Amino acid sequence: MANQAEWNKSSWKNFTALQQPNWPNDEEVKKVLDNLATLPPLVFAGEIRSLKELLAKAVTGDAFLLQGGDCSENFSQVTAPKIRETLKVLLQMAIVLTYAGGKPVIKVGRIAGQFAKPRSADTETIDGKTYPSYRGDMVNQAEFTEEARVPNPKFMLKGYNMAASTLNLLRAFTRGGYAALHRVQAWNQEFVVQSPMGRSYNRLAKQIDHAIRFMNTIGIPTDIPQVNQTQLFTSHEALLLGYEEALTRNDSTTGDWYDCSAHMLWIGERTRQVDGAHVEFLKGVHNPIGVKIGPTYDLEEIKRLIDALNPENEPGRLTLITRLGLKNVEKVLPPLLREAKREGYNIVWSCDPMHANTYTTESGTKTRNFNDIFAEITCFFEAHWSEGTTPGGVHLEMTGENVTECTGGARNIIDEELANNYLTTCDPRLNAEQSLEVAFQIAEMIRS
Ligand code: PEP
Ligand code: CO
Repeated sequence: MANQAEWNKSSWKNFTALQQPNWPNDEEVKKVLDNLATLPPLVFAGEIRSLKELLAKAVTGDAFLLQGGDCSENFSQVTAPKIRETLKVLLQMAIVLTYAGGKPVIKVGRIAGQFAKPRSADTETIDGKTYPSYRGDMVNQAEFTEEARVPNPKFMLKGYNMAASTLNLLRAFTRGGYAALHRVQAWNQEFVVQSPMGRSYNRLAKQIDHAIRFMNTIGIPTDIPQVNQTQLFTSHEALLLGYEEALTRNDSTTGDWYDCSAHMLWIGERTRQVDGAHVEFLKGVHNPIGVKIGPTYDLEEIKRLIDALNPENEPGRLTLITRLGLKNVEKVLPPLLREAKREGYNIVWSCDPMHANTYTTESGTKTRNFNDIFAEITCFFEAHWSEGTTPGGVHLEMTGENVTECTGGARNIIDEELANNYLTTCDPRLNAEQSLEVAFQIAEMIRS
């Protein structure tokens, strides 16, 4: 493995990069990447450093990480209403966790760049026809035709532009008054208002409203950034290494390298080989990094990964996102926590209760059950409590829309109802109501 001194933003090319598209034309790819390398960064190093400082607090339990959004963003969904609904539900969840759970919440969206997907197979076969798998809108199109499935490097450029316009609107909403605490009630989604979750949320929003009015009455100014503004950070899986390299820039104030495609990047379960290209690339950028860990992990390998990605044991640098599945979590999480504690690693422990709880219904729909999702989160908290480690956050696939992709929840969506509004092109997401429900339940746990 290359040591740190030999790292540069292209050194990943000396290692095996899994899950890369088979681009038909290398010249075209080079043209796009050269172009991307001249375009402005999407986020800047100072923001990335603030996120890392906040995440350092989640290591010790002084803040809680809420990371969530689509499994896979779609270009056709880069619209104001869609972005607003996602932001709204994240803000709602954050306010529930802050107010009912009593902890500052670090909001990180799977948004503004989550356009590339790892797949379990290179090709897909339907009715005797075999085409390349859909790898996200930044690579090819979901439609099952030969033409649509050909990887097109121009989609990386489009992805950059889509990320830029998403981020622009998010910045406007979070800084321009939309996210002000005076508006907590207004964030309640129309379809959620009448539900039990919507009513619990409204009660909480009213209390916040009273508190702000009380402050005003006694002369405490509420026209301050802590009340009027918020910050939403962006994240995506760092999968297409050419794209990530093109957006990696040297920060003039520190001389350090930052991947300026998003504030936080994560490495997926399928690409986290210690001697692989993804780990090599992320070793050298100074962003906060997440690593997904599935149920079949090898403890020694995880330790090598931690040492490779965070050799200085810097708090906030490394978030381990366990996605173990309800069936495995009680058995396989404690040994990992115990060993990490023994080694004294500074880690943000986050729970992804989605990716190992996926199943296919009898009619062939990919779904997840709300009870399994919630039960994995509960087991995650309990394992941390009994090992004396800190449950630092959650990582969810969710949307602000009224989709029917995951079964269960307060409205108890059943298998037969999944087809009513099943919109995802990749994994099933919690809808706004189910997301709020998760937030209320987590709030109970972080308060205790
Ligand atoms: C994902 O987060 O969408 C994903 C593919 O996760 P994992 O790498 O954990 O399977
Ligand atoms: Co997913």
